[in-house]
Amino acid sequence: MSSFIRELPKVELHLHIEGTLEPEMVFYLAKRNGITLDYADESALRAAYQFNDLQSFLNIYYQGMQVLQTEQDFFDLTWAYLARSHQENVRHVEIFFDPQAHTERGVAFADVVNGISGALAKAKQEWGLTSYLIMSFLRHLSQEAAFETLQQAKPFKSFITGVGLDSAERGNPPTKFTQVFAVAAQQGYRLVAHAGEEGPASYIRDALDILKVERIDHGVAAIHDAPLMARLAQERIPLTVCPLSNLVLKVVDDMSEHPMLALLHAGVCVTVNADDPAYFGGYMNANYQALQEGLGASDADLLQLALNSVEACWLPESEKATLV
Ligand code: ADE
Ligand code: ZN
Repeated sequence: MSSFIRELPKVELHLHIEGTLEPEMVFYLAKRNGITLDYADESALRAAYQFNDLQSFLNIYYQGMQVLQTEQDFFDLTWAYLARSHQENVRHVEIFFDPQAHTERGVAFADVVNGISGALAKAKQEWGLTSYLIMSFLRHLSQEAAFETLQQAKPFKSFITGVGLDSAERGNPPTKFTQVFAVAAQQGYRLVAHAGEEGPASYIRDALDILKVERIDHGVAAIHDAPLMARLAQERIPLTVCPLSNLVLKVVDDMSEHPMLALLHAGVCVTVNADDPAYFGGYMNANYQALQEGLGASDADLLQLALNSVEACWLPESEKATLV
């Protein structure tokens, strides 16, 4: 790992907190909560992390998070991620959580948000590590279910800055959620959506024009659509790209084929993020390193990517200045 990458001040904009659940913590929480797992030990669980595509990952991801049951569990999960981020010189994070994946199992919305928010507040106090929380709707579920979740979030509005859209992309287009995104915007949430990860470039356009999101999560399919790329560059619409995720989920066959640098050099505001680091082989520094070693990104490229994240984040301009 180069000292340049380690010392670079970083901002993370695409991170699912449930995707930071390491096998060791799965076993620790299973024991604490009296749950029997289908795997003999941590290494047997890790060996099951063989993915062909997004869906094969999501199956394991939703299964793993069932050990998260109490407010303390969500606090411990988030705290471990923040401690790791602090070690890697990450200065600000905007993280997703998937409330429906927990409330569907009978976990209280309050326990999820209070646990995560408690850890976020402690990291700000101890390290000055700032954060925003983004509530993601699961796109394989109905718009009606998303509306119910928006309603459940009402008492916690002050803890939740944005609304997002994730889970199985193919067959679940942005247009399925047009009304709930419009209402979320009226309620004052900022908007983002996963689009163009496995789905087509047209989903990126629809997320921008119909859902009216301000940032696209992934968005790598834009590389196949020259007019869309030109628009993203012209309007400086940020893409929160996740290199190791794209490799492990076979969005790209090899890191040398990743579109990150082509997008960067075309003037698109691309950023580096970890997505689900416990499953994809690394946190922020590992993603920067993969671009350096696998794609030949220079230090100047990596610096520009880090600056793009500062540009794309939601901190007030006065606070952005203190990040770099
Ligand atoms: N949920 C967690 N990680 C995701 C990803 N990479 N794409 C869609 N949904 C997700
Ligand atoms: Zn994601």
